[in-house]
Amino acid sequence: MTHAATIVFRDGKTAHIEVRPNELLMDAARRQGVQLPVDCREGVCATCRGVCESGKVELEYVDEEALTEAELAKGHILACQTRLKSDGTFYFDIDSTISSTSTKTYSATVSKVEKVSEAAALLELQLDDAAKALKFLPGQYARIQVPDTDQWRAYSFANASAQAGTLRFLIRLLPSGVMSDYLRERAKVGDKIQFEAPLGVFYLRKIERPLMMVAGGTGLSAFLAMLDSFVQKGGCSQPIHLSYGVNYEADLSELARLAEYKNQLPHFDYSIAVMHPSEQWQGQKGVVCDVFKPEFMKQPFDAYLCGPPGMIEATKTWLENAKVAEHQLFFEKFVSS
Ligand code: FES
Repeated sequence: MTHAATIVFRDGKTAHIEVRPNELLMDAARRQGVQLPVDCREGVCATCRGVCESGKVELEYVDEEALTEAELAKGHILACQTRLKSDGTFYFDIDSTISSTSTKTYSATVSKVEKVSEAAALLELQLDDAAKALKFLPGQYARIQVPDTDQWRAYSFANASAQAGTLRFLIRLLPSGVMSDYLRERAKVGDKIQFEAPLGVFYLRKIERPLMMVAGGTGLSAFLAMLDSFVQKGGCSQPIHLSYGVNYEADLSELARLAEYKNQLPHFDYSIAVMHPSEQWQGQKGVVCDVFKPEFMKQPFDAYLCGPPGMIEATKTWLENAKVAEHQLFFEKFVSS
């Protein structure tokens, strides 16, 4: 059964939409031409926050940094996580004229699917219409529709640009999940895939000081795109250090590519931490913060973090407590699903 939602904006304009069973409020609004502000789509950034003024709703995932218990108790919601259980009215503190993104939907064909570790697969797509240029910033992401389903999942690009229409994504393989099941069981070269891009505010700002990159698991994807962009541009004048943390060494992905970047980019280096290594592991055991380079942070720097919420929080706490130079922090939290 569908529900009616009334969306009220700060300037008093009102939109009336229909929300299908199990449909997210964000998706229903977009389907009917109402652009609500959006970024992560995963309940962590709070870009899509609003207030449920009447009606019954269910929220899927809400990161504790996105909304507090007190805000939830007062009816605050995240449109990207909200399903309606009755008709409802929602207030968004933005002008109705706001247009969040200029994303487009593209169609592409799978050109490669490769399991690159126990925990990740590399999905490569070719844009069907290479002439329909897709411009994105390294660090941004696409929402990909899992073939033969109505499910969409967000993944960071793992290459710099759609050169010759080729796009790559490093995707975490969960024990069970719609995209993970597709990649493991059904994906094949020639499959047709739709995706929406570009999305996200995690991208390289003006590069004027050393770059500290911190990747957790498949958060590495965003940094592969950034490093790829430096290679394409002929290098980066600032030192770059990437700290890459995984749970098990079998989860390590794209190490050959990192080694190649180290050859191609003279100012680039990286360190790896494995939380639960085997007895054969010769490298560093621990969390990603254990392989930070304090000497790298003695001069002002910019820190870019991409990974699960726990890793982002641990890094922020580490940086707050350590005696490091002034720095800017940019991060992208994601929850695998
Ligand atoms: Fe909804 Fe980020 S877009 S929490």
